[in-house]
Amino acid sequence: MLRFSPDVEIEFVDREKGIRQIYDFAERGMRTPLIVFGPEGCGKSAWLRQSAEILRENGYEVLYIDLFYKEFTAMVNIKEVINRLSQTIAEVADVSAIKIIDVVISIVIDMIKRYKMRKIAVLIDEIFQAIGLDKAETYVKTLLNLIEYPPASYENIVIIMTTSEGVSRWRIGRHRWADISPMWNMSREGFEILYMKIPGEKPSYEEVWRITGGNPFMTSLLYLNRWDHKKIIEKIIREKALSRDFINKWRRWLEIIIKDIDFVSETDFPEDLRRELIERNLIIYDLYPRNKDLWIDDPPPEKDLEIGVGRYVAWQTPLHREAVRKALESP
Ligand SMILES: Nc1ncnc2c1ncn2[C@@H]1O[C@H](COP(=O)(O)OP(=O)(O)OP(=O)(O)O)[C@@H](O)[C@H]1O
Ligand SMILES: [Mg+2]
Repeated sequence: MLRFSPDVEIEFVDREKGIRQIYDFAERGMRTPLIVFGPEGCGKSAWLRQSAEILRENGYEVLYIDLFYKEFTAMVNIKEVINRLSQTIAEVADVSAIKIIDVVISIVIDMIKRYKMRKIAVLIDEIFQAIGLDKAETYVKTLLNLIEYPPASYENIVIIMTTSEGVSRWRIGRHRWADISPMWNMSREGFEILYMKIPGEKPSYEEVWRITGGNPFMTSLLYLNRWDHKKIIEKIIREKALSRDFINKWRRWLEIIIKDIDFVSETDFPEDLRRELIERNLIIYDLYPRNKDLWIDDPPPEKDLEIGVGRYVAWQTPLHREAVRKALESP
């Protein structure tokens, strides 16, 4: 079960294709680590946790590490391995994420070499946010080396990392150290299943879809705030620091992109603003073509401006766009 809000648990729903992809990785293993990026709250962690279960059922020894909350799950048959990881995390209250990764890497080496484990999965949630981009580059390279030059032979390794950090994909993408796949908010059909499971009185499915674009985290925030989307919009305005200075400086362009987000990819769009929008995680820039193979789970629609999805650029959710719209209206 997943915690949808403090008082509601909802089982993992849908992501059918995303789950099939995991079965595929389980069967074939990986040649390079995989980095999955996507809008904040689109369901990356939920998918990664579900993946851990599937890999375990398929005979993998699984290490799942949530660097943000410094939590881990070790589905590994050797107690010593589990103990080492829990000791590291318990050792010092503020043990750094880097130390955890160091220990994880040495544990994986042991799993291959000393314990002769044949199928190993390492799933790391929020790697870039936790250890920073510079260090993350080094660790991704180290993980690639483990796959390419293992300390002993193994059958299959699966290494998946997630990030909602806007710029990480370009940093890693410069090298051939990892495959990088995007994941989107839930599909219309999948989201409807989630919507049905939310208790209590609620706005119509159409309305919730239009305002969240299928983002489960935004949906849970709405639920918590009794579906008062104005509150959420105010929260985004604060969190993304949509200050008067920022708004006034870029007003002309912001007014254009709340109508059509694809303008961000036009050549005369100001580079500084484009960078700000990406770094503040307001938009996803340079969306991959909607070729199904390039995406984890279903890609977003080709272009659907109602939910803020352009062909090349998208708002993380329609609520992000509404926050900008609201900030533009304030005198
Ligand atoms: N497939 C799903 N079925 C049921 N609930 C889901 C599903 N995907 C996500 N959720 C719920 O939606 C919320 C947000 O999901 P999650 O934390 O996985 O997103 P995320 O992309 O990892 O977010 P962040 O960018 O903040 O790390 C959680 O409460 C989670 O339980
Ligand atoms: Mg997450």
